[in-house]
Amino acid sequence: MAEKPWDGRFAEKTDKHVEAFTASIAYDWRLYPYDIAGSIAHCKMLAKVGVISDEESVLLVEGLGTIKRELDRREFTFDDSLEDIHMHIEARLFQVAGKVAQKLHTARSRNDQVALDVRMYLREEVRQTIDLLQQLKVVLVDMADGHLDVVMPGYTHTQRAQPVLFAHHMLAYYEMVKRDQARFCDCLKRINVMPLGAAALAGTTYPIDREYTAKLLDFPEISPNSMDAVSDRDFAMEFLSAASIAMVHLSRFSEELVLWSTAEFGFITLADAFATGSSIMPQKKNPDIPEIVRGKTGRVFGSLVALFTLMKSLPMAYNRDMQEDKEPLFDAVDTLKACLQINIQMIPRITVNRQVMRKAASVGFLNATDMADYLVNQGMPFRKAHTCVGNAVAYALGKGIELDQLTLEELKQFSPLIKADIFDRLTLEYMINRRQSAGGTATENVIRAIADARRALNSETPA
Ligand code: ARG
Repeated sequence: MAEKPWDGRFAEKTDKHVEAFTASIAYDWRLYPYDIAGSIAHCKMLAKVGVISDEESVLLVEGLGTIKRELDRREFTFDDSLEDIHMHIEARLFQVAGKVAQKLHTARSRNDQVALDVRMYLREEVRQTIDLLQQLKVVLVDMADGHLDVVMPGYTHTQRAQPVLFAHHMLAYYEMVKRDQARFCDCLKRINVMPLGAAALAGTTYPIDREYTAKLLDFPEISPNSMDAVSDRDFAMEFLSAASIAMVHLSRFSEELVLWSTAEFGFITLADAFATGSSIMPQKKNPDIPEIVRGKTGRVFGSLVALFTLMKSLPMAYNRDMQEDKEPLFDAVDTLKACLQINIQMIPRITVNRQVMRKAASVGFLNATDMADYLVNQGMPFRKAHTCVGNAVAYALGKGIELDQLTLEELKQFSPLIKADIFDRLTLEYMINRRQSAGGTATENVIRAIADARRALNSETPA
């Protein structure tokens, strides 16, 4: 069992069960690259202000470099008696660099150290997430661009409502992903604040230079209040909120893919390489990727709720409860990235069954609103036109046909305003292309939206 850096005032050794219960090394080892980078910056700062000598700083930095390489190669044994990654590295530094290691923790506490590590970890992961969202945006715009001629039913209440372009539907997800990305960019600003130097909670008596540490670690600002610095996990909750919203979007998309790939819809076919089979039913091809993405959404919400609950009753400043922030945070980061990555791979391989979509848009009176609009254009008030077309729908339903399959004479029974030109107005292309209001599904709007998206994608430097 290793000696503990804090056991000076203890009369008996820590119970083994306590060590196992309180240790976080099983998961916080992942923070090691940031812990070591933070310690190196701390050493350099201590030397700069004269708290340690330059020679001592060099020895410490070299030792930390050796430990980093050991950890990179996974040549490092973890031991619960050393609790967490911070104490493991410090203890190993003593073995590697000798007595000078005992100076590393001057003007620092694990409380500000762990806050730094988590911020550096999350900063890196958020940058990667923003990059993945960028790739997803490209994939969605490509899907829209490649299927500009595909008409599908748009739904409300999961009932066929009005025809839309499939490209318009894809661009709706592009907008969601764009907002997700903006949320992560925004939350990155508040992650990117340097807490080291807060020490345990009150700051330190040493003449430290926090701005210098921040500069070495590429932080644009330092935390202004030492108590807040060690007790704040808002940045993690904010990340989890943004992650949860992004997962809602991925989950809704997944739900549509699951529905669309059923025999009942038949709108899309997933690539064989991105589907799985059944161990009993030889005919099955299952949409397991979107199903698992939909399922994993709950996990990310769980992490958000875990952190909210963890933090909600904590008095200032650091409390050990906060060690429990890591597993949910790590899990949410891994889950979100995995879901984004698989979608980026899977979406371009989807086959869009354009004839099936078109047929579905042609059946079920999706042109009823347009017939009412036709009557309005002839001078009828909209409410009256609505009733008039409703009557025509009821009549056509009785005959088992569509509005555009009624004869002109039959249509005229519902209003004498209806002329032969009505039939042109009820075609899919006409209906789509009449919806030119800003943000509507008209082909020219969608073409413009794709061009705007491409321009934005080419000019963006997201993070
Ligand atoms: N493993 C701890 C955590 O994750 C590090 C900080 C411990 N600080 C302390 N005073 N016990 O929160």
